[in-house]
Amino acid sequence: PLWKVRNVCCIGAGYVGGPTSAVIASKNPSVGVTVTDINERRISAWKSNRLPIFEPGLLETVQEARDGSASRRPNLFFTTDIEAAIGAADLIFVAVNTPTKTSGRGVGRASETGFLESAIRTIAEVAETDKIIVEKSTVPLGTAGLIREILDAIGNPGVHFEVLSNPEFLAEGTALKDLLLPDRILIGSLSSPSGISACDTLRNLYSTWVPQSKIITTHLLSSELAKLAANAMLGQRITNVNSLSAICEATGANIEEVSNAVGLDFRIGPKMLNASVGFGGSCFKKDILSLAYIAETLHLPEIAAYWTSVLELNEYQKDRFAQRIVRCLYSTLTNKKIAILGFAFKKNTGDTRESPAISICQALLDEGAQITLYDPKVPKHQIWADLVCNGGEGTEENITICETAYQACHDVNAVVILTEWDEFSNRQPVEPARMDWERVAKTMRQPRYVFDGRNITDAVELQKLGLRVEHIGKSL
Ligand code: UDX
Ligand code: UDX
Ligand code: ADP
Repeated sequence: PLWKVRNVCCIGAGYVGGPTSAVIASKNPSVGVTVTDINERRISAWKSNRLPIFEPGLLETVQEARDGSASRRPNLFFTTDIEAAIGAADLIFVAVNTPTKTSGRGVGRASETGFLESAIRTIAEVAETDKIIVEKSTVPLGTAGLIREILDAIGNPGVHFEVLSNPEFLAEGTALKDLLLPDRILIGSLSSPSGISACDTLRNLYSTWVPQSKIITTHLLSSELAKLAANAMLGQRITNVNSLSAICEATGANIEEVSNAVGLDFRIGPKMLNASVGFGGSCFKKDILSLAYIAETLHLPEIAAYWTSVLELNEYQKDRFAQRIVRCLYSTLTNKKIAILGFAFKKNTGDTRESPAISICQALLDEGAQITLYDPKVPKHQIWADLVCNGGEGTEENITICETAYQACHDVNAVVILTEWDEFSNRQPVEPARMDWERVAKTMRQPRYVFDGRNITDAVELQKLGLRVEHIGKSL
């Protein structure tokens, strides 16, 4: 029998839970979607018009479903009353964080599933009617099995639970677009009749906007592994390009030309081939660590070493870039002023988790640089938290956080671009919102370097302004 879904609950109101719930609510006006979190400040922010995360188009989608209109009733709710939301729900998404463990077995590599377990325990204790539980968070292989064990052990005996894996593939900065036009929706389930029935129930929620051909179903374990694999292979792909960028810098080949030529091979494809200062974000590193740890626990040390090497190279890429800055500035940064443009791990997000900017700024500060920093979306307190809390003494006096790019670049010896925000680009067409590099060049001090860690500037145009330019994977 098909389950009837009147109410959906989402546990975890973060980067995944928030946008996903907003889109499901927007596309299923007859279903009530309640998003819960233990963090009260986050929930009040979701109820306001200053959402806790920045995503292009998110506020409009949230408002449509949350506030309703003449033509639709509100069906998106935010609350800290997790028990009530679980009690009322027929289907529960679990979208809590699963960060890398900071202590205990597998420290620094395995994913912490404590938040997930705590959410599952709450479900087991509260549920009095049958529920479908959907893993949205990226989890270690086999987690659905563990969830079933917990539910069997402590759940209400009369209540039937079905556990599905439905990993989210959205990328930050394009979350709405990715949710509305997904490459695929992946649902993993048991192959039992009730597993398949639960799977069909979840499929129906997506079918209101996603074509059937894009909804694929697999075994639970395949679905869990596919999510880890997708992130690991994307991170590895960027690392492939970044490793080639080092060869380009040493020889005179141009990484953009190489990436373009390689990406035209249909079997390889053109996306995710931009050389950079290194990848960041909450997923790639965490998931590659998790995959390597899983391999190790399965007694596959060669496989673990293979994936670990991707992360080692990513650290190397960040360090290599920082060292290049120091070398170009005559091997000392003492008394030098450096502007940092961009602190988020990519454009169109205010998120700084694992941002390459953190370790690069730290390396420059360690060499004695004075840093002026500008990012259009990262809150000031977040930059302080990332740099000062993790940094050594004296960090605070050596950083100034600025309101504009011009302020940051005033009177500096070098400008370093760490996030590919459009406003920092001077490539054609030049739009009004972009910064005026001529104005910047006039206020800079010798040796007037631009280190572009994202290759978003046209070097020839900058050189015309008297700037020295260093790009990733090019020797200009
Ligand atoms: C390869 C490149 O594909 C081609 O573009 C280049 O010009 C020469 O090298 P080739 O070696 O002839 O061509 O065959 P290819 O189809 O790439 O297969 C190479 C090996 O990989 C084979 O042993 C094949 O069995 C194996 N392979 C291929 C896999 O194991 N899995 C795959 O998905 C594809
Ligand atoms: C990633 C996956 O893309 C997404 O499918 C998954 O659900 C979560 O993890 P996200 O981390 O939000 O998404 O952003 P992504 O666009 O993948 O970028 C990750 C990092 O790689 C960023 O630091 C980005 O700047 C960097 N990157 C990306 C490159 O260095 N080069 C590229 O070509 C693409
Ligand atoms: P992601 O990027 O995976 O969405 P976030 O950290 O942005 O991760 O969001 C996860 C959210 O889950 C956080 O807001 C956190 O407070 C919330 N959370 C963690 N554990 C629980 C729990 N047991 N119950 C409810 N919410 C939780």
